[in-house]
Amino acid sequence: MSDTQQEQKPERQLDHRYDAFAKVTGRAKYAAEFPVKDVAYGYIVQADIPSGIVAAIDQSAASRASGVLYILTPFNAPKLGELGNVNVLQNADVLYSGQPIAVIVARSLPEAQHAATLLRITYNEKPAKLDFNNLLGDARPPKRGGASNRGDMAASAAKAAATLDQTYSTPIQNHNPMEPHATIASWEGDKLNVYDATQGITGVQQNLARAFSIPQTNVHVECPYTGGGFGCKGYVWSHTILAAMAAKVAQRPVKLVLGREQMFGPVGSRPNTLQHIKLAASADGKLLVQQHDSTCYTSFISDWVESAANQTTLLYASESLSTSHKIVPLNLGMGTWMRAPGEATGSVGLEIALDELAEKLNIDPVQLRVVNNAEKDPRQGKPWSGKHIAECYTQAADRFGWSKRNAKPGQHREGNKLIGHGMATANYGAGRSPSSAVVRILPNGRVFVGIGTQDLGTGTYTILAQAAALALAMDPALVDVKLGDTALPRSGGSGGSTTAASVCPAVYDAAAQAKLKLAQVATADAQSPFHGATAEDLDTKDGKLFLKSSPEKSEPIAALIARNGGQPIEGTATSELPKDREAFTSHSWGAVFAEVAVDADTHMVQVRRVVATYDIGTLLNDKTGTNQLVGGIVWGISMALLEESHIDTRYGRTVNENFAEYHVPVNADVYEIDVTCLNIPDFRFNPLGARGIGEIGITGAAAAIANAIYNATGKRVRDLPITPDKLMTA
Ligand code: MOS
Repeated sequence: MSDTQQEQKPERQLDHRYDAFAKVTGRAKYAAEFPVKDVAYGYIVQADIPSGIVAAIDQSAASRASGVLYILTPFNAPKLGELGNVNVLQNADVLYSGQPIAVIVARSLPEAQHAATLLRITYNEKPAKLDFNNLLGDARPPKRGGASNRGDMAASAAKAAATLDQTYSTPIQNHNPMEPHATIASWEGDKLNVYDATQGITGVQQNLARAFSIPQTNVHVECPYTGGGFGCKGYVWSHTILAAMAAKVAQRPVKLVLGREQMFGPVGSRPNTLQHIKLAASADGKLLVQQHDSTCYTSFISDWVESAANQTTLLYASESLSTSHKIVPLNLGMGTWMRAPGEATGSVGLEIALDELAEKLNIDPVQLRVVNNAEKDPRQGKPWSGKHIAECYTQAADRFGWSKRNAKPGQHREGNKLIGHGMATANYGAGRSPSSAVVRILPNGRVFVGIGTQDLGTGTYTILAQAAALALAMDPALVDVKLGDTALPRSGGSGGSTTAASVCPAVYDAAAQAKLKLAQVATADAQSPFHGATAEDLDTKDGKLFLKSSPEKSEPIAALIARNGGQPIEGTATSELPKDREAFTSHSWGAVFAEVAVDADTHMVQVRRVVATYDIGTLLNDKTGTNQLVGGIVWGISMALLEESHIDTRYGRTVNENFAEYHVPVNADVYEIDVTCLNIPDFRFNPLGARGIGEIGITGAAAAIANAIYNATGKRVRDLPITPDKLMTA
């Protein structure tokens, strides 16, 4: 969108997800579902020691097993080119239990899995580092970044009326989208075709091109639908490269799907955090000191940091501040992005700490946050492109009935249930990346949108149909959208809550370009009622071209195209970032309130109600947007009460690598969730006024629940998840 065009909010939304019908009828195909002729099945064999070297793999029995076509090991795998941090059989080192150490290629998956049991693997074991709590002495700063300082901490602390010094912890979590990672790879000469479950088709294309030393244009990646991403599918993991390697050596297409248990290790995790927080405030609640030091595990593969303290640098104003991160290397799989990486965990520590400070100061927890509102970005003093956090607190508190809360813990009882109320602030950054798109106005009255992004199930198809419809003032139901194909104009990865703000302006601009071309055709056409007018005088609405100065003068677009060769009118565009983007900070905000009922005998917690209001700029689609926020809150319930990967500190395997024992909320765990958005556009950030929405829902949610549990019981559990045993012994 050019600066001269008026910024707009979508008037017409699609009532249903663009892809709803394809999803419910099974027509929508996920990566592993594409029919590929002569496809063979790959199965990854994982190391079962946490540290050492694969000394030998005797594959004689496995090679003779039914259906086996090829067995890849570190001893026969082809050497690849440039690689990321992935274990793809380039050496025999074992850095964690679960690491891929072989791939069986067979006619069928059961045959591949059976052959895997016949491999005779011998190791030279080395001592492993596995117990985080006993290895805190190994903690070191990451190779890059992670610390921040402002003001004079000692001088600020000296003025304090109240102080807090506590430690909070969150566990390792593993991604479990409904669709596990999956790849189908096939070669035609030195051209590689891939169906991959991914959050970034371009990243997959680049990584495969580098790994196999072929031009990027030789790699074609398709991913029309992704069954959930949440960060794990933002990285190109070993299985994608191993599938392509297996297809090459077996000389036929290979499908490689990770089993549910293989989601725990080879495709990253959210590292645990141990957060030390010190706060000091004056009697009126103004923060003088914020100190947030977070330590997490990292693998021996790379320095990955769960940057829990980063959000503390900008969320509240304070006279002084100090944040830092440290990592403890362990023989576990890599850390990676998981929904709101940093904010999800950091808001647990900081927002519980603020609840504790509010009690010490005898100030309402909402009021404590209001008085510490950062009017500007505290890091460099830049203005926010949009911030309406005060309205979030007010609206959510009203809808929740916060004024009726009893601040004294343990006072509200309903039979055997202890009732409590708590709140927290939600926050997440807003970013954009450049993106290109093509829009074609078709002779049949429909419009085609093509863009090389992907829809994780979040609603990208839906909002792109709306963006084109907005530019052309037409019904979004008449827009056809094609995504998830590297043959389409290039776009960024779907992560970091950046997608909507990156891709919608590109499609809007491409549609505006198509409209301009259409107007140029009309003004040059002797039979057009607009012959001789200038293109800028014309606009479109509901499939007609009209004169802006006298809108009753119009002609159907289909008639114009039919008279002029009957070919689609195409517009392309690349959306650029705002020229003044360095002049402000863009961030999203929210307030989340929770009501819990804790059984006095069993200590089971029921999250009865969550009420949250978000300032995320324009809400592009009520259904898909609100759905993402609700999903984030459900994950917050999971963080607060259920979710945790248990590491066996002798053998290094995740003990609960299945859905029976890795607990996530089911419908029976989720009661009323009331989500509203202020829907105030942020036009400085983006011409559609929309900031990201994918991650903010999880932030603050777990802390609000933890604070409600304290209000209900008077027991402060600072180690998540808050399971009944912890409440019983607190
Ligand atoms: Mo998100 S953790 O950037 O997919």
